[in-house]
Amino acid sequence: MKDNQLKIAVILGSTRDGRFGPAVGTWILDQVAQRGDMEADLIDLVETPLPTVFPVLGQPPASHEARDLLAAVSPRMAAADAFVIVTPEYNHSFPAILKNAIDWHTTEWHAKPVGFVSYGAFSAGLRAVEQLRLVLAELHAVTIRDSVGFQRVWEQFDGHGKAVDPAAGAAAKVMLDRLAWWAHALRDAKALRPYAA
Ligand SMILES: Cc1cc2nc3c(=O)[nH]c(=O)nc-3n(C[C@H](O)[C@H](O)[C@H](O)COP(=O)(O)O)c2cc1C
Repeated sequence: MKDNQLKIAVILGSTRDGRFGPAVGTWILDQVAQRGDMEADLIDLVETPLPTVFPVLGQPPASHEARDLLAAVSPRMAAADAFVIVTPEYNHSFPAILKNAIDWHTTEWHAKPVGFVSYGAFSAGLRAVEQLRLVLAELHAVTIRDSVGFQRVWEQFDGHGKAVDPAAGAAAKVMLDRLAWWAHALRDAKALRPYAA
């Protein structure tokens, strides 16, 4: 990793059999890779599932299995300077599995920016994104105004994983530029004065 590069955790928020999430996730990873200022770490909730039973408040999970599952994800989220959440829209919201991943973490989100790449049938996933903003505000995260959205996601990528609409790449650049601005600003501020939640 180059000096001063930002670490971006890209969270892939769908686990459905036959999901389109990987096409969208691979595409945004490619957009990140084309820049020199950030490096992405893909957190795919199929590859690294999290427990769905929560422990008693304030206590760690009782089972080794649950602790091992968390150990595969939580340190990577803690190390991230910023996040990109890739989310579909399910019933005008975001998938339950993504909420589960969010809820397992607290300080990992604090004072960090979050950008969105959303997709769906007709809404481009925008309702999922608006609901995520409410949730992430509770976790002291800063959501980026500009996002990337794909309507009718199954029509949006060619056989090489490229987005068919050139506007998608332009939208990703705006979102990632703003994400980088906030990530640098917050990283610098936290180095000066730790964030107190
Ligand atoms: C349970 C479920 C609910 C859905 N609800 C919506 C919806 O409210 N709005 C929409 O635009 N698309 C909706 N869709 C379509 C999905 O956004 C679309 O199929 C997308 O590909 C799902 O992401 P995935 O393929 O990564 O699972 C829904 C799909 C599923 C499976």
